[in-house]
Amino acid sequence: METSDAIQSRRNVRQYTDEPITRSDLERILEAGRRAPSSMNSQPWHFVVVTERGQLEELAKVWQGAGHVAHSAATVGLVVAEPEDEAHGAWIQYDLGQATSYMMLAAADLGIGSGHAAVQDQAQAKKVLGLPQGYLLVYVIAFGYPADRPLRPIRNPDRRPFDEVVHWDRW
Ligand SMILES: Cc1cc2nc3c(=O)[nH]c(=O)nc-3n(C[C@H](O)[C@H](O)[C@H](O)COP(=O)(O)O)c2cc1C
Repeated sequence: METSDAIQSRRNVRQYTDEPITRSDLERILEAGRRAPSSMNSQPWHFVVVTERGQLEELAKVWQGAGHVAHSAATVGLVVAEPEDEAHGAWIQYDLGQATSYMMLAAADLGIGSGHAAVQDQAQAKKVLGLPQGYLLVYVIAFGYPADRPLRPIRNPDRRPFDEVVHWDRW
């Protein structure tokens, strides 16, 4: 798929078929995340990959909006060391956003859907993923082949108008 097609096709997919994602496709998605840029090239992330159904069901309990994780073919947990202060926390959030986008676009390129979820219950996250002391699960990204409609470029995305968002030279 062309990069522009992947960008236009990606949308949150929260319903998945039973088809597993091959190890090589998963590695391709994870490699895209590993290559994402980060503040001062700090690469603050660890990616914890879950594919076992029972573990996915437990991981889905980290946040009320993470139900789709239970039915995914694979979910990647984005884990970081607890930030030392607010500024580092903000950089880490930005960095994780970049890694997320890279992985989601790499997945779209393969026809694989993806869906974000936030994390609230850190105790559950630590229990399910076996995180070491001092580490946090910040987001999870669920992956799977779309059950409803395949990924195709979206003609009219649910987005604010271009001219409202873009300011040329000055506001
Ligand atoms: C930081 C962030 C957190 C999100 N958290 C959740 C979530 O917890 N559960 C969920 O179903 N979707 C979540 N989303 C997905 C957004 O709702 C979605 O990206 C947005 O509505 C735009 O839709 P689209 O991705 O289909 O273009 C999150 C997205 C972002 C960027």
